[in-house]
Amino acid sequence: MKGGKGCKGQKGQKGLLRTVQPFQPLQPLQRVVNLRPMHFPFSIAHPIPLFLAPMAGVSESPFRRICRSFGADVVVSEFLSCEGLRRGIKNVHDGAYFTDQERPLGIQLYGADPAAMGEAAGLVTTHYTPDFIDINFGCPVKKVVRRNGGSGCLKDLDLVQGIIRAVRAATHLPVTVKIRSGWDEATRDPVTIAQRCRDAGAQAITLHPRTRSQMFSGSAQWEEIARVVESVDVPVIGNGDITSAEDAQSMWRQTGCAGLMIARGAFGNPWIFQQSRDLLDGRVLHGAPGAAERFAVALRHARLAVSIQGDDRQTAIEFRKHLGWYVKGLPGASDLRYRLHQVESMGAVERVFLDYLKPLAATG
Ligand SMILES: Cc1cc2nc3c(=O)[nH]c(=O)nc-3n(C[C@H](O)[C@H](O)[C@H](O)COP(=O)(O)O)c2cc1C
Repeated sequence: MKGGKGCKGQKGQKGLLRTVQPFQPLQPLQRVVNLRPMHFPFSIAHPIPLFLAPMAGVSESPFRRICRSFGADVVVSEFLSCEGLRRGIKNVHDGAYFTDQERPLGIQLYGADPAAMGEAAGLVTTHYTPDFIDINFGCPVKKVVRRNGGSGCLKDLDLVQGIIRAVRAATHLPVTVKIRSGWDEATRDPVTIAQRCRDAGAQAITLHPRTRSQMFSGSAQWEEIARVVESVDVPVIGNGDITSAEDAQSMWRQTGCAGLMIARGAFGNPWIFQQSRDLLDGRVLHGAPGAAERFAVALRHARLAVSIQGDDRQTAIEFRKHLGWYVKGLPGASDLRYRLHQVESMGAVERVFLDYLKPLAATG
């Protein structure tokens, strides 16, 4: 910038000073990254770990293993009902299944009764021994918040603290929390929520900076992540709207968060972890995978799912959503997706993939 208002006092100065640019305040989202070293309460392979987010019906053991193989540093189970765990409900206990390859892994719990949450945390510690326990204070789904679970707790921060204290008292494992920015606009206050969580003993905090009322609308307010980073002395993991490696790098640069968590951006796209790591480490980005590579990874993922579920047909049907995500963006994706949404066996999936690749191989 030459001349102008800001240069006024420099007129007539000599030497180096003449070349000094006038002070320009940084824009809110162009701040200097806060490099306070943060210690995660579990072991991590990189200073800025990448997390696969907890996702009901998606972040199950097979997908977690796939994402770990592509560079996710930490994974988290889908949310499990503390009541379901206490009552021994099979489906809920199935959600706690994981393999050692997935570590470090957190099991996420939700519920609105501190005693029940403590009991479930003790049970998870004894029977499953994950690397940490995460408490869900973010789920916006009606059937969960109706009973004050998930983000429903955010209406009562005494309750939030009571739950964290009960869980901490019931386990020797690290306890982390995942929060939204508040219940609604009127009560939006991520800094106070994070500080109250920290005071009650949360050892790391993931913020998805939307309110419950927003559900998934609007955009995640990354500036709120930056404010929370500055207001607590535990690692803050930024989450929300990371759909590419560039987004991951931008969130880290703009907020100084200690870790980055990716949810929807990983749908059919475990490569996002590898590419994000490339950018964070200053390397050239791995290229986008071609059709053959996408299909190979989709099949590897599908076979892991069959090996756990045991029922080829059932798994193929449940796996259709993943198949649709894996082919997103390929030429002819809508026709391919249509065919994949009819499959009833893993053999049929392979045939659809081979049919797609045949003409490419012939021309290619
Ligand atoms: C299908 C789906 C299931 C989810 N399930 C959970 C869950 O079990 N626990 C949780 O804390 N958040 C859950 N979330 C929220 C995500 O973890 C994440 O906070 C949110 O999607 C924002 O991140 P993103 O913009 O990277 O998708 C879920 C999100 C999706 C799309």
